Amino acid sequence: MSAPWCGFSQVAGFARAIVVGASSGIGAAVAKRLAREGATVGLVARRAERLESVGAEVEAAGGTAVLVEHDVTDYDSVPAAFDGLVAGLGGLDLIVYAAGAMPAVDEHEYAFEKDRQMVEVNLLGAMAWLNPAAAHMEAARSGVIVGISSIAGERGRRGNPGYGASKAALTVWLEGLRNKADRYGVRVVTVKPGFVDTEMFRSAGLEGTPPGLSPISADACAAKILAMARKGALSGFVPRRWGLVAMIISAIPSWLFRKTNV
Ligand SMILES: NC(=O)c1ccc[n+]([C@@H]2O[C@H](COP(=O)([O-])OP(=O)(O)OC[C@H]3O[C@@H](n4cnc5c(N)ncnc54)[C@H](OP(=O)(O)O)[C@@H]3O)[C@@H](O)[C@H]2O)c1
Repeated sequence: MSAPWCGFSQVAGFARAIVVGASSGIGAAVAKRLAREGATVGLVARRAERLESVGAEVEAAGGTAVLVEHDVTDYDSVPAAFDGLVAGLGGLDLIVYAAGAMPAVDEHEYAFEKDRQMVEVNLLGAMAWLNPAAAHMEAARSGVIVGISSIAGERGRRGNPGYGASKAALTVWLEGLRNKADRYGVRVVTVKPGFVDTEMFRSAGLEGTPPGLSPISADACAAKILAMARKGALSGFVPRRWGLVAMIISAIPSWLFRKTNV
């Protein structure tokens, strides 16, 4: 099915989009929501079968799916993959970087390989994909870039130092990218979710969440992400109540935060 070009301003309609990390969770949900508006969506991830299944759902929802099997840590292959996708889509209105890794880290484990994987996927993969996207959008003087960071980037938590560090760095990098590209018509949106019910959340064994902080669905998260992208929002927590959590944990002095188990 061909995608109609709606002719809206850049923050209203997203007829041509790329979702990196589209094979499950938040990325898949964003792709399916875009499909309901008739978008053509480039779906990028490693698991081919999962991509095919999300692609079928995108087509069933009224969109067009272009599948790219790709590991974001294969940085050298990104420029060709990006250019091929943009040519196939006929341009680019929106890119969402949702790829992420959060391997479990045991109490007595200090594992460089896991920290490295999180930095490579969560930060360097975002840089590899979003730099060419920013260059393309600057030339077009139009486009929206969404990076999925995390509440976990607000503080150094003992539970997974590498994950928090990768997300803190991503948050700062996205802010810099926004400040660099904004004057050329490129909107950069930083999304910082709290708990979202996805494979990542379930594999982390975080089911016993505190009252009021139960996870939202991936689809609810996707709806909020696209609303932020449409508004050209700068940065925000999803859902918004996590902003209060961020304020509280940021105010806790380091000596006291060290004694907590968050
Ligand atoms: N769930 C939460 O509570 C939560 C909270 C805050 C932030 N986030 C962030 O939200 C984003 C989406 O996560 P999710 O919760 O939706 O988890 P998910 O269902 O596990 O999705 C992760 C996605 O990242 C992709 N990915 C991982 N490593 C990759 C690699 N090397 N190359 C290409 N793609 C890769 C996966 O695809 P393949 O495995 O097929 O490659 C999958 O599509 C992540 O950045 C995560 O850190 C999640």
